[in-house]
Amino acid sequence: MESINELKKEILKLTKDYSKKAHNSFRPAGDNLRAVWEKGMPIPYAGRVFTEDEVVAAVSSTLDFWLTLGSEGHNMESELANFLGVKKCLLVNSGSSANLVAISALTSYKLKEKKINQGDEIITVAAGFPTTVAPILQIGAKPVFIDADVITGNAQCDQLEKAYKKGKTKAVMMAHALGNPFDISKTLEFCRKYDLWLIEDNCDALGCSYSMPKDLANSLGFYENSPGLYDGPNNIIRWTGSWGDISTQSFYPPHHLTMGEGGAVNIINSQKLVVIAESFRDWGRDCWCPSGIDNTCKKRFEWKLGDLPKGYDHKYTYSHLGFNLKPLDIQAAIGRIQLKRLPEFIEKRKENWQYLRRGLIESERFLEFALPTHAKGWDVNNGFFWDNTECRSDCSWFGFKISIKENSPFSRTDLAKELDRNKIGNRMLFGGNLIRQPAFIEVKKANPDAYRVAVETKGSDKIMNNTLFLGTYPGLTKSMMDFEIETINNFICRF
Ligand SMILES: Cc1ncc(COP(=O)(O)O)c(C=O)c1O
Repeated sequence: MESINELKKEILKLTKDYSKKAHNSFRPAGDNLRAVWEKGMPIPYAGRVFTEDEVVAAVSSTLDFWLTLGSEGHNMESELANFLGVKKCLLVNSGSSANLVAISALTSYKLKEKKINQGDEIITVAAGFPTTVAPILQIGAKPVFIDADVITGNAQCDQLEKAYKKGKTKAVMMAHALGNPFDISKTLEFCRKYDLWLIEDNCDALGCSYSMPKDLANSLGFYENSPGLYDGPNNIIRWTGSWGDISTQSFYPPHHLTMGEGGAVNIINSQKLVVIAESFRDWGRDCWCPSGIDNTCKKRFEWKLGDLPKGYDHKYTYSHLGFNLKPLDIQAAIGRIQLKRLPEFIEKRKENWQYLRRGLIESERFLEFALPTHAKGWDVNNGFFWDNTECRSDCSWFGFKISIKENSPFSRTDLAKELDRNKIGNRMLFGGNLIRQPAFIEVKKANPDAYRVAVETKGSDKIMNNTLFLGTYPGLTKSMMDFEIETINNFICRF
């Protein structure tokens, strides 16, 4: 009779052989086993990029059948925290859940006067993904919208002051749009001035970084290197998602790494916030034992909390009205392999963006392309050129954003239809101007005071009307991108 270990070994060997044959169109571009793409085949805008390693990890974890978050999850949490240089990462089942946990954590009574109360205001941006904003409403706070910039896709941070209301504003919560860091220095200066929380929705931006001059960084409370990133002689560089108080990731397939469904809440440096966020993720409980483990605090039956009798089991003591938003350990097993690929994936997204940008030069007549925050322009020989702030953003692009110029003889829909006809995956910048979405209109109808629009949102309207994006994901091969370039350039030549 074969031992359990031998059986497992055999299953994993067969899994490996199977996956090499069955999944070869999902391998990274450039991998020599990767299936060849031919003209006429679809080009997805994004998707899972993996090899047999992820499949073997998933099957191995499935055979162990621990199921709920366990050793794979805990290892992934510390590996991700190490990568980002943050105190703690908590895995959750989606980026939307991560945003919900992050903002809910800031409502905890344990934060005393810094706690976000019902009716308090949180500044955010009108253009983007709905679940960056929905959790603000779900906790009973009030989103206050500023506008987005058409070129960067990000919040126009010079509008933050216009949105501020003394005694009401408690936080800024916004995304680094499509893998382009927002103006972190301006936002942090604003947050420090008024003692506000900063929540970075980093769901589309894992692997983007931002640098600022040392004296400015020091004045904002940043002194040391982030692990994995080297500061220059005069500047401090950190990953996005490690500048604010708390940040979030999505690991849905189009993102920089995937666990199928999944996400993370990153707590940058407060142990108090770690305990609170974990409580909200895990049913609201006070106890912080991982599942399957008891008595980490060594006084499980000695606590006296609330009106419970002394010694009431800490495992069943609840300090918050929480959720249960944990992913499966199997997902984390996949995520850990993806994390090893992350440095390569980050670079690939940058290269793909540059490749598309160079190829589409002749379409500049009618098309406008993204620029990183602080860049003033781009040229084919020198790449980006920059403003005089000495702050820089390094984008690991989530997508290749294209806006149709105002005088163009065709519309965004015309271009999208042409791309569709050629099976080239394309997407809008998510919800466009969110305040035009039925969900937000209905919320306002039910309660006219539900949110506040601090400025005109013309930029977000332009993004809604004139913008789409193509993929930059690491599964894109040169021939796929050449076909995208050829299709767009040919389309432009018709006008
Ligand atoms: C900026 C941003 N935040 C949050 C999310 C939600 O992530 P998930 O789909 O994992 O819930 C997304 C989804 O793509 C996103 O783009």
